[in-house]
Amino acid sequence: MVNVLIVHASRYGQTEKVAQRIAAMLRTRGHDVLLLDAAHPPRALEWQRFQVVFVGAPVYAGNYLPPIVRFVREHRDFLQRVRSAFFSVNLAIASHTNDGRAETLELVGKFIERTGWHPDRVELIAGALNYSRYNFLIRFVMRSIARKAGGDTDTSRDYEYTDWSAVDRFAVGVAEGPEIASAGFPVPPAQVAPQTTTPRAP
Ligand SMILES: Cc1cc2nc3c(=O)[nH]c(=O)nc-3n(C[C@H](O)[C@H](O)[C@H](O)COP(=O)(O)O)c2cc1C
Repeated sequence: MVNVLIVHASRYGQTEKVAQRIAAMLRTRGHDVLLLDAAHPPRALEWQRFQVVFVGAPVYAGNYLPPIVRFVREHRDFLQRVRSAFFSVNLAIASHTNDGRAETLELVGKFIERTGWHPDRVELIAGALNYSRYNFLIRFVMRSIARKAGGDTDTSRDYEYTDWSAVDRFAVGVAEGPEIASAGFPVPPAQVAPQTTTPRAP
């Protein structure tokens, strides 16, 4: 049994859903899990009780959300001392093209550079197109982007591209896997989970 901390930031709920899935998976396997929203960090926390930490953030306009960048910068020394993993959630990955992965890995590289944190593992996760939650302008912009990419444009419904089995494997792999040597960056291909499904491009 390990004590696990999962920190996330989320605007429309998909990254939070991934964080909750990781938490549920690890709890069923007997691990002790604490979930934290980076936008509302607690005043005090016994950091030393955690052996494993997951940090997750979605991409907005080519950047990870500010609360996660702030959290990681503030707690970098702690993150470097434990087994840590970063999960990135976005739509470029949903296209399952090399370009989408390369583009996202570049963002992860910039994030690592900006924060100085070198997670042991990085997971690239396809997010969701939540048309029902966007305001008129965002819905219009997202539908235009989706149309150009040959993706889903019916704004009367939402689309989820997340591969939940891959999320489960990632959760267990990090929490229960053999000691992971610090990968640094660039992340070697073996440390990034292989693609297993081919959902429609957004
Ligand atoms: C306004 C807006 C901007 C976005 N920008 C990007 C982007 O630059 N690259 C990308 O791959 N996905 C982008 N996305 C897709 C989100 O990363 C994706 O929907 C993710 O699931 C959102 O996670 P959340 O629900 O936890 O906030 C954008 C989405 C919105 C609504």
